[in-house]
Amino acid sequence: MKQDHSHRMYDEALKYFPGGVNSPVRAFRSVHGQPVFMESGDGCHVRDIDGNRYIDFCCSWGPLILGHNHPSVRQGILDAVYRGVTFGTPTLAENRLARLIIHHHKYVEKIRFVNSGTEAVMSAIRLARGYTGRPKVLKFEGCYHGHVDSLMVNAGSGLVTFGTSSSAGIPEAFVGETLVAPLNDRAAVEKAVADYGSELACIIIEPIPANNGLLLQNPEFLQFLREICTANNILLIFDEVISGFRVGFEGAAGLFDIQPDLITYGKVMGGGMPVGAYGGRAEIMGEVAPDGPVYQAGTLSGNPVAMSAGASQLRECLRPGFYESLAERTSTFVTKVQGHADDKGYPFRIHAMGSIFWMAFGTKDDIRTSAAIDPNSMEQYKTLHRYMLSNGVYIAPSGYEVGFVSDAHTPHDLAEAATIMCAGLDAAFAE
Ligand SMILES: Cc1ncc(COP(=O)(O)O)c(C=O)c1O
Repeated sequence: MKQDHSHRMYDEALKYFPGGVNSPVRAFRSVHGQPVFMESGDGCHVRDIDGNRYIDFCCSWGPLILGHNHPSVRQGILDAVYRGVTFGTPTLAENRLARLIIHHHKYVEKIRFVNSGTEAVMSAIRLARGYTGRPKVLKFEGCYHGHVDSLMVNAGSGLVTFGTSSSAGIPEAFVGETLVAPLNDRAAVEKAVADYGSELACIIIEPIPANNGLLLQNPEFLQFLREICTANNILLIFDEVISGFRVGFEGAAGLFDIQPDLITYGKVMGGGMPVGAYGGRAEIMGEVAPDGPVYQAGTLSGNPVAMSAGASQLRECLRPGFYESLAERTSTFVTKVQGHADDKGYPFRIHAMGSIFWMAFGTKDDIRTSAAIDPNSMEQYKTLHRYMLSNGVYIAPSGYEVGFVSDAHTPHDLAEAATIMCAGLDAAFAE
């Protein structure tokens, strides 16, 4: 497969953008080769500017649960565009999307729309602090919550630590109120609450951590978080930017039947447009301006084009059997790949949850914390990635990232992708 045009355009992009990209992981620094420029997408396929076609498992990093260019979403966007793209006033499109979510999600009583997952998390943290009057936040090592200053932290060594900032440009004081605990570790959370409980505004977690591999949590651990938060007047925030509307309409909260106080959203909720949201208990949301003292605003928040795209997508997700069918197809796909690895005796494990999957090299064991991921195993992912890219399957350009199956991936597409993936594994384990 020739990708010459992409490579020339990337050379040009390097003149314009840091690293030639507008979001770091797109630069392919974690894998071999150079990024591919996409020109169009249709269903589960994308086409690059050299004319190559790929089965896509990146799906724009998760939003495209219906695949590319879905007719309903496209129509929703076009209908909105014809009426005018933004007004800075309330519009019916906001009501429609909110109604759809609130009527079908038992834990979202009120919602505020923003423009990205990062903005949703940043706002939810501010709300938790405003509502409780407390400064501190507990997060978990291996969970990503967007590039929010106070959450860009590395854990220190120990059970539970104050983090140190993980990006230049974030003063240590900005992360000075952030505690970091290992995932799946009750003792660490109990210690944090014993030491700092009266200062803790919230505990935030990706209930299905999917940014450092797919680190499946025990639902009992999430239930424990619910209980310890309730007992200590700490808010529990589920960051469902990935899992929301992805593992079920009610996300992980619905799947595990655990009620967080606040939930953050992005990705699937926006149908591929730049959208985020935070919502939850009405009493807490009542603290948000203009009802309450917690200020948060946005020129383009609730943008009608984005709202319309989101509503069009979520309506499709509400079709009976939608999530079951997606999960079933994903399961057949990963079982085929895992079966091949097992037959060959490869130390490899493909983890899956609903329509999210992640390929882990170096061990067959469950991986439940980021510390359990062997960085050396990424070398094999690089070989796999290169093989897939040159054989018509687009997977994320980093071994820490998950893959997404969309409703547009047919059993036939998935069987084809699985065959290529099995050959890719052979290549990765041959080196
Ligand atoms: C769990 C989670 N929270 C927050 C974010 C940030 O969302 P965005 O990239 O839309 O700012 C992401 C992005 O991947 C995410 O996965």
